[in-house]
Amino acid sequence: MKNKLIYDSDVIGMTVIMVSVILKEHLKAIDTELASLILTISKTAVGIKERLPYMRGIAETQNIYGELQSALDLWTDQLFIEEFRKLGLVNKVASEEQKNLARLNDNGRFFVTSDPFDGSSNLPSNNLVATIVGVYEKDFYTEGRNQVAALYVLYGPVLSLVYTVGEGVHEFLYKPSKKEFILENENKRLPEKGKLCGFGGSRKDWLPPFRKFAEELEEEGLKVRYSGAFAADINQILHYGGIFAYPALKEKLYGKGKLRLLFEANPISFVMEQAGGASSNGKRSILEVKPTSLDQRIPIYVGNENLIKRLERALKG
Ligand code: F6P
Ligand code: MN
Repeated sequence: MKNKLIYDSDVIGMTVIMVSVILKEHLKAIDTELASLILTISKTAVGIKERLPYMRGIAETQNIYGELQSALDLWTDQLFIEEFRKLGLVNKVASEEQKNLARLNDNGRFFVTSDPFDGSSNLPSNNLVATIVGVYEKDFYTEGRNQVAALYVLYGPVLSLVYTVGEGVHEFLYKPSKKEFILENENKRLPEKGKLCGFGGSRKDWLPPFRKFAEELEEEGLKVRYSGAFAADINQILHYGGIFAYPALKEKLYGKGKLRLLFEANPISFVMEQAGGASSNGKRSILEVKPTSLDQRIPIYVGNENLIKRLERALKG
């Protein structure tokens, strides 16, 4: 057994060689420009994580959806845009926090969507917050299936980054002592049997077929976990399996869903489908929906494929 590569440092009496793969190395397998873009996002996220404790205030402004912005919504948004500008590879940025597109470089190859600070209503209670990014070439007005990359960062107890370029899903954890993102899970797949469910909105505002479906799952023993930050809720589905939904609610509330197709639903659906899961707007994959506007909302159901198929049947009635 001597000199054999093993990963379990508890094993006694054998030579243990811990192999750490850093993000930069892992990205050598992909297109170099796309790799630089992902690295830029990862470095920007490290800076955000460091400043987070000092910037928890509310700004006096609203975003395009009429939501009150936090200082961090504004600052992270500007920071990502600035870093993309310096990189020179980004043509335009569509951001959840901006009314207009940020036009950075007419010759840039990438069209980037940004939800720079997902879950900002979690700030007062010190719960999780995140960044969600989608990357396209040529245009934003295309199906999510055409993303060339998608990723999210969680500003959790440990800073983490999950990315896909269409060849599986990879998760990295940031080690401050090494100042590097270290590979934690390569080709991460949803567990076959889902354990969790997390549904947005109030039960009284759910439409009857969805309510019935949700109650069935709870009866079957799926545990309810809902955090209020989309990317964080998705990360637990990635790890424990199950289903997350922010369903269509009664018309006056969010008849068309609450979450945003470009900024949230598309990147997350790309990650989930690449991890062996499925996404749906209630009828078909989110990634097959062609956006008609940048600020479009969409009902979203994501998780284990069997649950998503079952949900689609349940909504059909
Ligand atoms: O960005 C919108 C968002 O904050 C998501 O991160 C989250 O899933 C959802 O809205 C939470 O909404 P609610 O406060 O209605 O539960
Ligand atoms: Mn968000």
